[in-house]
Amino acid sequence: MAKESPKEIFLKDYKLPDYYFDTVNLDFILKEEHTLMHSKIHVINRQGTLSPLRLDGVDVKLLSIRINSKVVKEGEEYSLSSKHLILHHPPATQFVLEITTEIEPQNNTALEGLYKTTGNFCTQCEAEGFRRITFYQDCRDVMAKFTTRIEADKSLYPVLLSNGNLIEQADLPDGRHYAVWNDPFKKPCYLFALVAGQLVSRDDEFVTCSGRKVALHIWTPTQDISKTAHATYSLKAAMKWDEEVFGREYDLDLFNIVAVPDFNMGAMENKSLNIFNSRLVLASPETATDADYAAVIGVIGHEYFHNWTGNRVTCRDWFQLSLKEGLTVFRDQEFSSDMGSRAVKRIADVLRLRISQFSQDAGPMAHRVRPHSYIKMDNFYTVTVYEKGAEVVRMYETLLGKKGFRKGMDLYFERHDGQAVTCDDFYAAMRDANNANLANFKMWYSQAGTPVLTVSTSYDAAARTFRLKCRQEIPPTPGQPTKEPMLIPLALGLVSPKGKDLAITSVHDGESLKFLKDEHGNGVTTVVLRVEKAEQEFVFADIPERPIPSLLRNFSAPVRLVSDISDEDLLFFTCS
Ligand code: BES
Ligand code: ZN
Repeated sequence: MAKESPKEIFLKDYKLPDYYFDTVNLDFILKEEHTLMHSKIHVINRQGTLSPLRLDGVDVKLLSIRINSKVVKEGEEYSLSSKHLILHHPPATQFVLEITTEIEPQNNTALEGLYKTTGNFCTQCEAEGFRRITFYQDCRDVMAKFTTRIEADKSLYPVLLSNGNLIEQADLPDGRHYAVWNDPFKKPCYLFALVAGQLVSRDDEFVTCSGRKVALHIWTPTQDISKTAHATYSLKAAMKWDEEVFGREYDLDLFNIVAVPDFNMGAMENKSLNIFNSRLVLASPETATDADYAAVIGVIGHEYFHNWTGNRVTCRDWFQLSLKEGLTVFRDQEFSSDMGSRAVKRIADVLRLRISQFSQDAGPMAHRVRPHSYIKMDNFYTVTVYEKGAEVVRMYETLLGKKGFRKGMDLYFERHDGQAVTCDDFYAAMRDANNANLANFKMWYSQAGTPVLTVSTSYDAAARTFRLKCRQEIPPTPGQPTKEPMLIPLALGLVSPKGKDLAITSVHDGESLKFLKDEHGNGVTTVVLRVEKAEQEFVFADIPERPIPSLLRNFSAPVRLVSDISDEDLLFFTCS
């Protein structure tokens, strides 16, 4: 078998797949010495091309291939390398592809694909784990409806779980049994999951805003089940919060969470079968701190929120990872803020961003929120994609306001439900829903490095004007020696020496004068300036006394702020 060397993959080379998969039937026969796997895929040749169909597969033993029930022969009809199975002449229209393979989950130490953990079978398919289960087009934009049959020994593996709804279950001879799961939503294979083992569940129920009952189960090994009360509480709170804040209702009658002790990631959002590392689910008053409790809320929320931002609307390719991760981190941050203290949460998140992400952006690993190339995707689950990505989402909210942001989200779901899309699509939804001018905002996705925003201020007592000069500079980063200015939202207030926010009634941004009013017709106390150019001046009129500017409120942009504000004035904020 030919060995393939690692290849760099570029965003610019993206191409629509030639073949779509419509329905996928997976049949797993789990045994101790190996797992036998049969897949039956309805393939659609998108344009009737005669191009070969390339399937990904790693450490998978091929037993047989059939197309429309006819055996496919090696050499002339297919070839096999260490990472791919290539079908040379698939039919030009629709066809049924059946592949039988064998894998050894008990010897899979990659913790990707199907593997065994403390006696249980478990999967992890993001980013590219599904190709360790069977031969498949392991890419995001091939979305299919999965039906999964799992067969195993009943005493060793009494619980058999996969995505969607349980449609059939029965005993078999020789102490074996099976379960059939059907997921009515189409999904890319990275959201596939299977769990088989000895687990017990804590059961609950959630009634959705439209009155549907959803059965909730949290599965753990017996000894851990008493520590899942807080996780159940967190899940129900997350389901309610997503309905109230984003209008997003859960879409199946069942939601499963599995907590296992050795799970490589923190947690994974597989459709209706989220899998967690136990440490992020279990909490008991005897052993968990307040911070542990807060972390459970955040992670349970995060994975649950992916159901809409990641699963219903997914990524076209892995370059768009921040589309789901940045957005979902933003959503989990907001959820945690609403469940606890908004200020404490924001301070913690900003601290983390400044410590970890700013350092990444200033070093040799600096990269864009939307990377332009990768060799191994797993290395791109970074603080830049996650945390800076979440700040980019937060900036839309800062620029468009809470209502405008919600309008943008609604349009995003309306346009793209069931699709695999890009960060550009998200940007377009935000812009179009608000008729907004977000001209050079998009560069936040494509320019690495933390912008330095230098602000100098002056007050003219006679003219009662306050001036603010801004300069933005983005330092060079590997592969990007020069940068363009981008739209930076700078939220600020002007505070009187007595510690009161002054009313700001107008601002001149160098081009036009804008009047500002709150809902009662008075001036505003916080204004969001649009810093768009390399250098820009803003003038506030009618300011009765020398104010102390309170800059970058709520950390309105992920920038390094340099200002001429005196230590004395800065101290004023900490003491007032
Ligand atoms: N989709 C990811 C899980 C993941 C991460 C899969 C890396 C493959 C590679 C999941 O939604 C996630 O982001 N999990 C985080 C925790 C979350 C609260 C930020 C994790 O696993 O650390
Ligand atoms: Zn995530």
